[in-house]
Amino acid sequence: MRIAVYPGTFDPVTFGHLDLVERGRKHVDKLILSILRNEDKQTLFTVDERAAFLRDAVAPWDNVVVDAFDGLLVDYAERTGASLILRGLRAVSDFEYELQMAMMNRRLAPDLETAFLMPNEAFSYVSSRLVREVARLGGDVSGLVPPAVAKALEEKFGRGTRR
Ligand code: PNS
Repeated sequence: MRIAVYPGTFDPVTFGHLDLVERGRKHVDKLILSILRNEDKQTLFTVDERAAFLRDAVAPWDNVVVDAFDGLLVDYAERTGASLILRGLRAVSDFEYELQMAMMNRRLAPDLETAFLMPNEAFSYVSSRLVREVARLGGDVSGLVPPAVAKALEEKFGRGTRR
């Protein structure tokens, strides 16, 4: 059974993440979306909220599950039986950070591969950070995140009017 882990912060999940899940899941038997539990990082949504958004969004796909992890990603991958880490590359600007993580993970676990997929170009500029910022400042993010996320952002910041 080929198992892949797609780790991330997912604060919150965007259509860019989901595009990647849809592409990645076709190449494995099971794809685990796993949220890093990071006490040091200030997030907008709790791990439970982020997991609920993800579960709701991936419900149509039977080989995708949602989980959370602590500690090293390579240890988590070993515990879950994953042989692949899946990550998205949107632009060259992502590359340096992703390369560093992939090389560090390879050093820690030489048999664990990292695979990168490019999201649909329509989402190449979408990031959770920008979604949070635009929502906070009154912009409309409804075309960039699932409806439940848009609603939760609206509850926090009010309805985005600037399109
Ligand atoms: O969505 P993000 O914030 O870019 O995801 C980063 C993540 C969760 C993939 C990365 O921070 C991670 O794997 N953290 C777990 C701790 C770890 O294993 N660190 C060393 C790997 S370089």
